[in-house]
Amino acid sequence: MSRVVRIAPSVLSTDLGRLADQLAAAKAGGADWLHVDVMDGRFVPNLTFGAPLIKALRKLSDLPLDVHLMVVEPERYIAEYADLGCRVFTFHPEATVHVQRHLAAVRERGMAAGLALNPSTPVTVVEEVVADLDLLLIMSVNPGFGGQKYLPGSNDKLRRARGLLDRARSTATLEVDGGIAADTIQGAWRAGADTFVAGQAVFGQADPAAAIRTLRRACAEEA
Ligand code: DX5
Ligand code: ZN
Repeated sequence: MSRVVRIAPSVLSTDLGRLADQLAAAKAGGADWLHVDVMDGRFVPNLTFGAPLIKALRKLSDLPLDVHLMVVEPERYIAEYADLGCRVFTFHPEATVHVQRHLAAVRERGMAAGLALNPSTPVTVVEEVVADLDLLLIMSVNPGFGGQKYLPGSNDKLRRARGLLDRARSTATLEVDGGIAADTIQGAWRAGADTFVAGQAVFGQADPAAAIRTLRRACAEEA
């Protein structure tokens, strides 16, 4: 299969005390993007980081920043994050009202526009805005924390998401986030995902660079 495989290690699972080293290891392992989980303690029951860390990441790494906003009213950050040099701006339709307007604003600011869906949100939510989408992120855990188990219904949901994008002739990226590891990535790849967020499976390992290579290899292998 010639479909692209993108690995996006999640900064949430780094040891911030060794951030520079961990980012260098991700780069050495061939990471494609850095995934940045912004949480506000309201949309999800956890509080992480925002602009100051994004600034530091920009300085420490030349990898594209794939920012995932788990915050209410994510539109408040579009202009600021564009100015900080983020490549992808993904938000949850469950967290705001005027989704189409915000997707257009993200593109206008020169970023790729992404929508992320909680496990309980049907994929059909994106039907009316598929032309405005550059990326669809299927959450394979309930968002809030790294290191959770891949929810079993996720591959079926990815297949339905892939079908929806294909029928609309959309070339949007199909990303999956949560519980991706050596034993779950192949199923997600077969279900149609092309971009894989991995936190614990990369930065929770002794050798993050080798861990990235292992994940990528699992997509190419036919079991
Ligand atoms: C979960 C976050 C994820 C998280 C994934 O709420 O959106 O991006 O970092 O971590 P793992 O890969 O450890 O499940
Ligand atoms: Zn995420």
